[in-house]
Amino acid sequence: MCGIVGYAGPVQPSGRPLDVVLEGLRRLEYRGYDSAGVALTVPGQTVVSSAKKSGKLVNLVDELAAHPLPEAVAGIGHTRWATHGGPTDVNAHPHVVDGGRLAVIHNGIVENFAALKEELAAEGVTFLSQTDTEVAAHLLARTFREVGDLTVAMTVVARRLEGTFTLLAVHADDPATVVGARHDSPLVVGLGDGENFLGSDVAAFVSHTTEALELGQDQVVTITATSVDVVDFDGEPAQAKRFSVDWDAAAAEKGGFESFMDKEIHDQPQAVGDTLLGRTDVDGRLILDDLKIDEAVLRSVDKIVVIACGTAAYAGHVAKYAIEHWCRIPVEVELAHEFRYRDPVVNEKTLVVAITQSGETMDTLMAVRHAREQGAKVISIVNTNGSTIPRESDAVLYTHAGPEIAVASTKAFLSQITAAYVLGLYLAQLRGNKFPDEIALLMDELRDMPRKIQTVIERGEYVRSTARSMKDASSVLFLGRHVGFPVAMEGALKLKELAYIHAEGFAAGELKHGPIALIDEGQPVFVVVPSPRGRDSLHSKVVSNIQEIRARGARTLVIAEDGDDSVKAFADEIFWIPQVPTLMQPLLATVPLQIFAMALATAKGLDVDQPRNLAKSVTVE
Ligand code: F6R
Repeated sequence: MCGIVGYAGPVQPSGRPLDVVLEGLRRLEYRGYDSAGVALTVPGQTVVSSAKKSGKLVNLVDELAAHPLPEAVAGIGHTRWATHGGPTDVNAHPHVVDGGRLAVIHNGIVENFAALKEELAAEGVTFLSQTDTEVAAHLLARTFREVGDLTVAMTVVARRLEGTFTLLAVHADDPATVVGARHDSPLVVGLGDGENFLGSDVAAFVSHTTEALELGQDQVVTITATSVDVVDFDGEPAQAKRFSVDWDAAAAEKGGFESFMDKEIHDQPQAVGDTLLGRTDVDGRLILDDLKIDEAVLRSVDKIVVIACGTAAYAGHVAKYAIEHWCRIPVEVELAHEFRYRDPVVNEKTLVVAITQSGETMDTLMAVRHAREQGAKVISIVNTNGSTIPRESDAVLYTHAGPEIAVASTKAFLSQITAAYVLGLYLAQLRGNKFPDEIALLMDELRDMPRKIQTVIERGEYVRSTARSMKDASSVLFLGRHVGFPVAMEGALKLKELAYIHAEGFAAGELKHGPIALIDEGQPVFVVVPSPRGRDSLHSKVVSNIQEIRARGARTLVIAEDGDDSVKAFADEIFWIPQVPTLMQPLLATVPLQIFAMALATAKGLDVDQPRNLAKSVTVE
């Protein structure tokens, strides 16, 4: 949700500030692609140099080629996901005010912008855009004129703004400096050698440095080429936490694949494998080093509430089946944005598990805060180092999926399920619900999953050719039962996001209670078939569902286990997956659905990495 980059370099002007900022924007474009813009400072110039363009970053790059900016010493850049004001050139950031002397970029929403705008308008300020950011920019300009120092001015303005924001500013009067402020929106500092960086996340600067500072809430940072100073909103010196980024720039490149999404689907065996690394000691007992909660507290938990949004919430739904089965603790799964607005029953005996790839999703962050205020302990399952949610949780379990750049989530989903399973088994071990040898067996099964996921990926061409043949479909339904139900919902979400096709995921058992009315001649329906080796009759019930919809004309696309001949008579297409216990099946059955959505969207000529209207990191409520 808006990507922000800042750079401060050596005193000698050069092309590097623009290069660094544009490269950072390219890596952050997944956060929003409604418009992009840059502002640069050049010593001796009375105004900043800037350019901005609506649409994707490439439009800005073309604009800069046609109208180059001068060599500079520092710069800021922004890629936008529109909130206030449509995605036009004029609403694009940076907002350059005060006769061209000050440039400001912003991620978040200034909630009291209307009152501030009135105040400034009364003083004669005129506004060019419809954005809340321009209001903040004028406020900063006015304050800078009063106090004569950009850092001090930023602290004053930060205290006046309500809502969420990361703001970066450069001023022609202080060209070597970039100042940033954060409140409930992300901002990290990259520590270079003779240069320093700012970014919404580390992807912005990871090709230049892997040493970083995680800013705390309500802090203002001032960078030059050789200094990084952090203060709180009262201007008092403040601490930021130093960390090293554990992935390199190559991980954030396409690596020969046609899209980031394709690459990330192929990354999945490794993402799952890496998430399992180092989780057992020499005796085979599970250890969770990242988990800093007193074991006695975890033993006394009487309810688990998973909070998350979108794909991460579906990972939570899958985890519910496993954790309840293994730990005998009731697990509720709730969309984070619903959770805190309905007065949920949580207390000291509740363990809240927040699942999030970005670690920045505002809905999830607010739910985490609400849960902790009620006395609950929060464990977050997070992919992005240095993000906000781990910092605000009682403990964190990192998924090690590496950077996920494509807006639609793939490898994060499989890693989230894996991490949640590890947490479930850890709790089962701690609370004595399972014998050590049972846990060891389940861990062995998990460790075998990367190999099996690889097999499913290698069978992808049949899925792709089926998808290509269905590029004119206008509606696709997905059915699943037990853990196959959230897989069906995830399959439908991928298709909606990527191919803009109406898609719904249903619990197969619910079909006869209504959705079966949707089945008509030729209606494509994916069905995720549970393992025939399960202890209950789930498998035969789902096979009956396939027959019921086939009898009503549906085109059945079945995901079934190798050797499950019972589906052959009723399936128009079968996507085979290796045999696994039912609880492990989501790690395999999801993969053909991801490939299907990607291939169908590609066949329609759509951009699978940056679907319309979406942004990867949703930092507004
Ligand atoms: C779907 C997707 C979104 C995210 C959701 C939560 O493909 O990516 O539904 O899963 O916005 O994001 P995180 O996991 O960053 O909290």
